Amino acid sequence: MQLLNGKALAGTIRNEIREEVGQLISKGQRPPKLVAVLVGSDGPSQTYVGAKEKDCTEVGFDSEVLHLSEDISEAELLNTVEQLNEDAGVDGFIVQLPLPSHMNDQRILEAIRADKDVDGFHPENVGKMALGLQGFVPATPAGIVELLKRHQIDTEGKLCVVIGRSSIVGMPMALLMGKNAQPGNCTVVQTHSRTKDLKGICAQADILIAALGRPRFVGEEMVKEGAVVIDVGISRIEDPARKSGFRLVGDVDFEAVAQKCSYITPVPGGVGPMTRTALLQNTLQAYYRHQEK
Ligand code: GUN
Repeated sequence: MQLLNGKALAGTIRNEIREEVGQLISKGQRPPKLVAVLVGSDGPSQTYVGAKEKDCTEVGFDSEVLHLSEDISEAELLNTVEQLNEDAGVDGFIVQLPLPSHMNDQRILEAIRADKDVDGFHPENVGKMALGLQGFVPATPAGIVELLKRHQIDTEGKLCVVIGRSSIVGMPMALLMGKNAQPGNCTVVQTHSRTKDLKGICAQADILIAALGRPRFVGEEMVKEGAVVIDVGISRIEDPARKSGFRLVGDVDFEAVAQKCSYITPVPGGVGPMTRTALLQNTLQAYYRHQEK
């Protein structure tokens, strides 16, 4: 079994980006800029946005976090989105989800100009991804494709089973693995909560991608000998042996599955760091596209 060390690879890619930004600056150009909009004070969202800001600083991007009050109206948030759309100094921005319940997430996401939608959530970008046109691909599936590519994992003709159909991970993941590309060219089976014989289907997978959000759901009996296992989940479970009282686990029972597969992503240190890095790659792409105009 070989560990797919996302943390190490993400570090390598961030170094590459930092070098590229250094060259831009030495040529007198401005660095790329990413803005994150955070509405309210949801704990995990604050952590994610803080991490995104730190990543930007590390590679030399400009970044800004717009903290907006929990009780602003949807119209006010739409106004902020419009200002960011029009600001030529901003290459890409994200509106951190979840939004407060009095707002319609979809209406906000659709207001973001597609050429600045580095999350890849706008219907125009989802459509482009489905058609194989150039647009922005959501960070988690983009990070996973990069992880497979840089490890030169052969996916052609393989049976890829995706567990989960969320618009952020499962759906785009299935589309990308089925594309005529490398990585890609898989025979894809997308499974979900209504799938019959989920265990039996997973046990046939050459590549198994678990993105259902249930801690240690994928056991040894669900994994074929020699399979590639990608674990998107990250959950806290109680662990009295730890000082913190908890530890992080994925959707895969790592200890049970690791010996059986050819490659596996650890949690933490697998998909998570690749996701963060993919957002930087999308922002760099947005920057170049804006320079071309
Ligand atoms: N909330 C959890 N993950 C994400 C993400 O990738 N983008 C945004 N905008 N919100 C999130």
